[in-house]
Formats: sequence, C-alpha cells, structure tokens
Amino acid sequence: MLLVLLSSNAKSGDSEAGKIRYGKTCINCHGPAGKGVASYPKISGKEVSYITTMLKTYRDGIEVGPNSGLMIMMAKPLTDNEIADLAAYLKDAKYNSNKQ
Ligand code: HEC
Repeated sequence: MLLVLLSSNAKSGDSEAGKIRYGKTCINCHGPAGKGVASYPKISGKEVSYITTMLKTYRDGIEVGPNSGLMIMMAKPLTDNEIADLAAYLKDAKYNSNKQ
C-alpha cells in the first residue's frame, strides 16, 4: 500500500514530453538541449529536484536573480506535470552540434 502511494505521488516526468515542451518556448533562450546561450544559463545536466524547485519558484513569482522577470513570465503557465517532464528531459539532455 505504501509503495503504491509513494509511486503515485512521486510521478516521474516523461522526458519525451519534456523535450517537446522544451522546444515550444524554452529553446528560444536556453538554446538546443538547454546548453545555454550568452546570458541565458545552461540548464541541462542538473538534478530533477533542482530544475523542479527553480521552475516552481519562478512560477510563484519569486525573484532569485537579476533576470528572473523573464523566467517568471515563462514559468507561470507551466503545470506540475510539465515541470516534471521538463526536469526529466533536462537532466540528461546533451547538446551535440552534429545532431541536435
Ligand atoms: C525569454 C527568455 C527565456 C525563456 C523563453 C526561458 N528562460 Fe529559463 N531563464 C532565463 C533567464 C534570463 C534565467 C535567469 C533568471 C534569473 O536571473 O533569475 C533563466 C533561468 C532558468 C532556470 C534556472 C537556472 C539556474 O541555474 O538556476 C531554469 C531551470 C530555467 N530557466 C528553465 C526554463 C524552462 C524549462 C523554460 C521553458 C518553459 C525556460 N527556462 C524559458 C530566460 C528564459
């Protein structure tokens, strides 16, 4: 019983869905596979818990850096499922200049 509860609460994200969601908006600033572009931070290769916490922080409208305004705007419409999917994708996303 406990296991059933735990697994339904800690639904892990779907990285394929995360990749698709990433391509809709995030890629415009953070670049292919979250590699970072100019002043936009690299966001790939980070722990699921880190990405999740950051996205929920921005979604709550909390400023953590000089350019949080941009991220708050992007995070507002995200659902919990989308955040889980994005985190699952970004954790292992790798930029490969030959094949994106
Ligand atoms: C308009 C440009 C823009 C878009 C689009 C954008 N971001 Fe960001 N993102 C930023 C900026 C700028 C920061 C740094 C904000 C700050 O100063 O707090 C940031 C920070 C982050 C961070 C925290 C990085 C760290 O190291 O703490 C994460 C995670 C993140 N973005 C994920 C996403 C995801 C996922 C999406 C798509 C839903 C997205 N971003 C869309 C500009 C953007």
